[in-house]
This record gives sequence, C-alpha cells and structure tokens, in this order.
Amino acid sequence: MQAALSRPKLISLAAGFTDNPTLPTEISRKLLDEILRAPETGQPAMQYGITAGEYNLRELTARHLQKLDGVNPAAPSHSPGRLMITGGSQQLLYMTLEALCDEGDIILVEDPTYFVFLSILQSRGIRARGVKLERNGIDLAHLGLVLQLLKKSGGLRRVKALYLVSYFQNPTGVSTSFEKKSRILKMLKSFEGAAGHPIYLLEDGAYRELRFDGPDIPSALMAPGATGRVIYTGTYSKPFAPGARIGFGILPEPLFTAVQRVKGNHDFGTANLLQQLLARALETGLYDEHVAKIQKRYRQKAQVMKQALAEHFPPEVEIWESGGGLYFWARLPRKISAGMNSGVFKAALEADVLYVPGELCYADDPARRKPANEMRISFGSASGENISEGIKRLGNVLKKFID
Ligand SMILES: Cc1ncc(COP(=O)(O)O)c(C=O)c1O
Repeated sequence: MQAALSRPKLISLAAGFTDNPTLPTEISRKLLDEILRAPETGQPAMQYGITAGEYNLRELTARHLQKLDGVNPAAPSHSPGRLMITGGSQQLLYMTLEALCDEGDIILVEDPTYFVFLSILQSRGIRARGVKLERNGIDLAHLGLVLQLLKKSGGLRRVKALYLVSYFQNPTGVSTSFEKKSRILKMLKSFEGAAGHPIYLLEDGAYRELRFDGPDIPSALMAPGATGRVIYTGTYSKPFAPGARIGFGILPEPLFTAVQRVKGNHDFGTANLLQQLLARALETGLYDEHVAKIQKRYRQKAQVMKQALAEHFPPEVEIWESGGGLYFWARLPRKISAGMNSGVFKAALEADVLYVPGELCYADDPARRKPANEMRISFGSASGENISEGIKRLGNVLKKFID
C-alpha cells in the first residue's frame, strides 16, 4: 500500500481487494434508507445489539448456508443458535484461536496458506506446521506423516486444529473436494486418542461464493463425523462488501460459548446497522442478484488475466488457475526467487507492478525451507485494462530473469 501511494502509475495485482465498480453502493443506499426511514427499524438499528449477532441475520445466514449445503432448515449442524455474526470473518478467526489455543499450541495449516492467519498465530505465540498443498488440496499422505511425527515427538498434545481455506484458496486458488474434507476429518479424529482432546477442522469458506466455474462443494459441516468437530467461517465481505465488515461462523459447543465470551470483551456485538443492511439484502433477494452479477464480473476478469498470462508470461512459469476467488498462483523455476528481497520483486516495483511474494504465505516451520519462487497475482481490484498491462509488465520482468 505504501508503494502504491508513492507510485501513482503502479498497478497493484497484490491486494486481495474486491472489484470497486460492482460494489453494492446503490443497493445499500436504498436499503439503509428503508431501514432508517421508519423509527421501528431505524432506532433498533442505531442501538446496541446482541453479542452473538441479530437473530434475524443469524437465521437468514443459517438458511443461506443450509441452501448452499443442501440441507433442510431443521438440520442441527446448521442451526442459527450456533451461528455467530462477527466483524468480518477475520475477527472470528482471531477469537477462535484466542478461545482454543494457549501459547505454544500447534495449528496445522495448508502450505501455503492465508498469510494474515499466520500473522494471528505468530502474534499469539501459536506454532504452525505446514501440510503440503497440491492442486487438489492438501496431500493426505503428508498430513498423516506430519501427525505421526508430532505423535512421536510429543507435539501431538499441542495440536488443536487444522485450518483449511477450502474454496478457491488464498493464495493458490485451490479448492478441496468434499471427499478430501471427509478424509481429513477422519484422519484428524484417528489421532485424537493420542492427542487427548478434540482436533478441530477449522474450515474457512471466505471465497465460496465467488465461484464462476463448476458446481459448489458442500462444506465440511456435511461430512461424516463433523458433529462437534467442524468450525466453519464465512464472510459477506467478498460476495457483498468488505466495507460492511460482516462475517459469520458456525461453532460447536463448548467453543461457541467461549468465543461468545471473547466477543463480549472485544465489542459486545458487531455494528447493528450493518447487520440490518445485510439482513435486508438477503431478505429482499437483492443479495442473490448481486452475487450472480459479481460472479460474472470475476469470470470476465479472470479470463482477461488468463489471456494476458498466456501472452506475456514465459512458458517456464507454471500457472495455477481457479474456478473462483480472486487469485492466480504462479510458480517460477525453482532457482528463481520472487521473494520480498529478490531481484524479481525489485524489478517488478521498478516496472510499476506489484504482486504478493508467495514466501509470505508459508508458515515458519522448522521441518522445511520456505519456497521463494512463487507469486500470488490478484484480478480482484484492478481494471481489465490494468490487469492486461500489469501482467505484461510482470511478464517482461520475468523474461529477463528466466533468460
Ligand atoms: C482466506 C481468508 N479468510 C478470511 C479473510 C477475512 O475476511 P473478512 O474479515 O473481510 O471476512 C480473508 C480476507 O482476505 C481471507 O482471504
């Protein structure tokens, strides 16, 4: 962001921001006006609310998730009573770790993973262990090996959860099949006896609704043995508006109560007015209309980026493409670093284009060196024109280094 401010011509393909022109400003203005015009809705919206979130939005969100997962409204797995509304899903991730972990505990993560999650771990003195990520999700054999090694070393007692960004993952765009989620859950359970406590599957579905290709995948809440073991987090930031900062999650007891207590200390409830806005958007169907619109928009932008990559990137670069989300993942030949201090990063900045160095997305894990030859490239916030131009600039930089 600093670089962007000091270089007006810089094209940022780095930020995970969403598309500006399609943000729902018109819808929000109309709905907020409706809410605030009538005292019976306006006054409560401007008042304090409930720590776990407004019941109406919790119900609507539970119904929304039930629809995505194809379960009936009575399903206890998707009960509004276990659903919490939070200040973005980021707050929920933080609070979950605060409630679940002590300093020195271990969370298993995809290798690579969402780098702000790693930063939460670091800030709370929680250790991370990476599980190899392949194009179809984590490598189950490697997960088994990591768990075995932790068991041998006595570390298993500190393992509290596996964090999985299961839909169009940040940073790689990878999605995890339902079958794989079920097998992960089963494997985690098989180590619980030795761990001496539950090992949760923390599923982060932040990008789930930014799907522009292929069918939706049911969440891990639907997997056999999910009861009491799956924490599911979602957000209205990506499909609606990051500025509204509304996230949500389903948590099993006793975690729900523990996280609710933490939230009581943080803010005793997410901004009521914004919860009412989301509730109205869902109730009126405007939310669904909006999601359909942005799915189309991201399909187009992804297509623009794909074409530009084909045209301008050297063939030695392996590109991981996704059916949703905001990112492409590029892997350079192993010997070429794209890290923060690399020649590639500096040359890209000189050429006025920015990406996220992949190495930032790897946990500090003593079991391996962090790969430095990867980059996350986002088509979320740049215009079509800037996507093409940014990829062209980046491609020219890479050609020099690969030659
Ligand atoms: C994987 C992932 N999870 C969670 C979040 C948090 O989003 P929010 O707090 O806006 O819901 C992000 C934001 O970029 C993300 O990429």
